[in-house]
Amino acid sequence: SKITPLIAGNWKMNGTTAALDELQALAKLLTTGEAPRAMVVLCPPATLLAPACAKTASAGILLGGQDCHAANSGAHTGDISAAMLADAGAQYVIVGHSERRADHGETSQMVCAKAEAALGASLLPIICVGETEAERDAGKAETVVEAQLLASIPSAADQLEIVVAYEPVWAIGTGRTPDVADITQMHARIRAILTDQFPTRGNTIKILYGGSLKPNNAREILGIEHVNGGLVGGASLLANDFYTIISSV
Ligand code: G3H
Repeated sequence: SKITPLIAGNWKMNGTTAALDELQALAKLLTTGEAPRAMVVLCPPATLLAPACAKTASAGILLGGQDCHAANSGAHTGDISAAMLADAGAQYVIVGHSERRADHGETSQMVCAKAEAALGASLLPIICVGETEAERDAGKAETVVEAQLLASIPSAADQLEIVVAYEPVWAIGTGRTPDVADITQMHARIRAILTDQFPTRGNTIKILYGGSLKPNNAREILGIEHVNGGLVGGASLLANDFYTIISSV
């Protein structure tokens, strides 16, 4: 397809300065091997963004935050604004990851406000959606994802670039993935919703798949129609595994 694929790594709450060696190893693989077809984004803990820049720039690895506050600045102890992430070297930020929705009670309305803040700071938001296992078992996966998409994506998405990540909650960190048929169906549905909601840009919004994406299943999953890349958790922590996934596109 004409959409340039994107592989994003999410280190979650993993990595101290020692992990910069792994990033160095990834940069080396990317610069010595065949140039990847996919764009590569790494979202380390915010504490590593600035030191990561030096390791990633020459290898073409882009950086992202894992969350941002909806406000630009102010009395929000412990929070990080989109402008701060940009200042530290980020070009992307994940918003609405299921772990944020579950652990911090983030609603789709809050996620939308964060995505707007990201766009306001010239960051590309990677907006995450996905059903729980109970919701899938109840046959509600598509309606849940549709409701999340409609409420989480700012209307500015028809003028500015955003990325959507579909992550079935039950596939995250479990080693389980949906069948190819189920991923195919969900991504087609997401594409239909995006083109309906965003007549100008909906057809080119990247839709990433996330949830136990590994070196041994990446080629099959990333080859599915309307899967425009992946959001990789555990397997992004090891340079060789992440590079194998990047090279699977
Ligand atoms: O953001 C990444 C996803 O939550 C996937 O994590 O690849 O460890 O299943 P995982």
